[in-house]
Amino acid sequence: MTTTVLITGTSSGIGLTTAIAAAKAGWQVVATMRDTGKATALRDAAATAGVTDLIDIRALDVIDAEAAAACVDGVVQDYGRLDAVINNAGAGHLGTLEQESIDDVRAVFEVNFFGVLNVSKAALPHLRASAGRLLAVTSVGGVVGQPFNEAYCAAKFAVEGFYESLAPLAAAHGVRVSVIEPGAVASEFVGNVGFDPAQTEAFGPYAPQLRNYLTRTAGAFANAQTSEGAADAIVAVLTDEKPAFRVQTSDVARTFSGAKLADLDGSVVQNLTATWIS
Ligand SMILES: NC(=O)c1ccc[n+]([C@@H]2O[C@H](COP(=O)([O-])OP(=O)(O)OC[C@H]3O[C@@H](n4cnc5c(N)ncnc54)[C@H](OP(=O)(O)O)[C@@H]3O)[C@@H](O)[C@H]2O)c1
Repeated sequence: MTTTVLITGTSSGIGLTTAIAAAKAGWQVVATMRDTGKATALRDAAATAGVTDLIDIRALDVIDAEAAAACVDGVVQDYGRLDAVINNAGAGHLGTLEQESIDDVRAVFEVNFFGVLNVSKAALPHLRASAGRLLAVTSVGGVVGQPFNEAYCAAKFAVEGFYESLAPLAAAHGVRVSVIEPGAVASEFVGNVGFDPAQTEAFGPYAPQLRNYLTRTAGAFANAQTSEGAADAIVAVLTDEKPAFRVQTSDVARTFSGAKLADLDGSVVQNLTATWIS
């Protein structure tokens, strides 16, 4: 029996490499992306890996709840089952509350939080039928709040809170729920934030802290995990008999998330992230 996994946001980065790794592990992959005109990189990678036949590329913008439901239904119609979903689509955002609108924050939640819910809601009945797996790629930023990432981290925290609450109920019906927490990963993520350092002065009183933050972040991304490394950790969750609820994709991510999870009064994280901007 071939098992089927639907992955969101596979035009680049972790989604693309996870689609390839899952196909290499024998899964039938439904690789979704909001613009299938951007599928060349995935198609080329699939051809190189010899898994073209196991990668079915379909359009899905996760913000569109009706499209998410139609996409999931189409997969079940065509393959007869859905065994796993990897909510990978997401986008970073650099800002701070005084310098952005509430609509900016809402937009960050639309893709990073409500997008995950749209796909999860559509998939759950089918995952119950297959005793399947429901994954979301959150971030260490879903555990540790980080300066200039208020909206992004809040959206990722929201996914973690939603899934942590859902997990025991889903498990009672045979569905395993996990959150995947990468640290810095080499992908299109930073470029897709679309931040031009020339905009730094527009942050007014916060510009000095932003400059320090950008320097620190460049250092972290200079040592980023590869997308392939993150993908291997995700595919391991698909096949693990008893997958953990919370999975970090690297030792760096484990140390960072671990600091927060053992930080009962919040002081460890506050002292750490304060050094990023001073
Ligand atoms: N890279 C990191 O350092 C890092 C660290 C922790 C967590 N993460 C998380 O990992 C996940 C993958 O990110 P990545 O690093 O692989 O970055 P990426 O290369 O920018 O990939 C993000 C993917 O999400 C897609 N996407 C964005 N908005 C979408 C929407 N409305 N509907 C469907 N797809 C959408 C993008 O598609 P388009 O090409 O159409 O924009 C792209 O395929 C994200 O959830 C991100 O938050 C990344």
